[in-house]
Amino acid sequence: MYSAPAKVILFGEHAVVYGQPAIAVPVSALRAVASTQPGSGLHIVAQDLGKTLPIDISKEVVDDSLALIVKLVLQTLKRPLPDLTITLASQIPMASGLGSGAAVAAALARALSGALGQPLDNNTLNSLIYEVEKTHHGTPSGIDNTVIVYEQPVYFVRGQPPERLIIRQPFTLVVADTGKSALTHVAVGDVRQLYDAQPARIQPVLDSIGALVKDARGALESGDTNALGPLMLRNHAYLKQLTVSSPELDTLVDAAMQAGALGAKLSGGGRGGNMIALVTPETQTRVEKALLRAGAVRAFSTLVS
Ligand code: MEV
Repeated sequence: MYSAPAKVILFGEHAVVYGQPAIAVPVSALRAVASTQPGSGLHIVAQDLGKTLPIDISKEVVDDSLALIVKLVLQTLKRPLPDLTITLASQIPMASGLGSGAAVAAALARALSGALGQPLDNNTLNSLIYEVEKTHHGTPSGIDNTVIVYEQPVYFVRGQPPERLIIRQPFTLVVADTGKSALTHVAVGDVRQLYDAQPARIQPVLDSIGALVKDARGALESGDTNALGPLMLRNHAYLKQLTVSSPELDTLVDAAMQAGALGAKLSGGGRGGNMIALVTPETQTRVEKALLRAGAVRAFSTLVS
């Protein structure tokens, strides 16, 4: 079995595309998994889709992301198409800001390279998954593939080596799904249009997000969990100004706060997908229930450490 985890972005999504820092953590309990059996030709059994896909990498431009990662792995390892069946399954909801595309690609690449007896190291894997991310949206910052491949909390600045973030005091997040799928590349494209049309208004918003991410890093490293809540709310307000929230996300953020969360915000590309709420052992169940009552289709808790 080969696998890769989901992720949540704690602070700094979207602004990270413009060079600001961001912080993301893996969600190790939610995973994409892949296993291999001998086969004839290369086939991928996508269990969640109920489909078996023959993989064709003969074309110059491969636009299917599963075929693309296969092609990139085989090129890197200098190997021909093997006789192999790879079965993929994912517990990570798609198009919901939890990194399902990158996690599936990482699990698949690990399975393929492992079955060929040449397992990829994380640095190589990370750069291959980044190539796949580029086909989803043209200007990915690289934070999603990085946190998913290394499976560690990261403080990330585009174009710089990721820094492992030390979380001094573990804390619990409730992750709740609006049930509205949303494509990251659409939200990223819309922010780009907004930025190009009104740089003088948008640049200060991006700068303010960058500044609060630095404060959040300090709070995480010193174990000042209480300081994180207000920073999450401020980050959510800035994301609203970037137009990437939605009525459903705002409703869930309000519901979490009314139920006693210390802070809450959308996480990932926005417009739908998931939000996160910072809770204590005393408020965790109350916040989860409130989110489900307010319309979340799913809510679960994850320990960040
Ligand atoms: C998506 O998880 C995070 C975004 O900042 C896009 C990116 O960093 O590439 C919205």
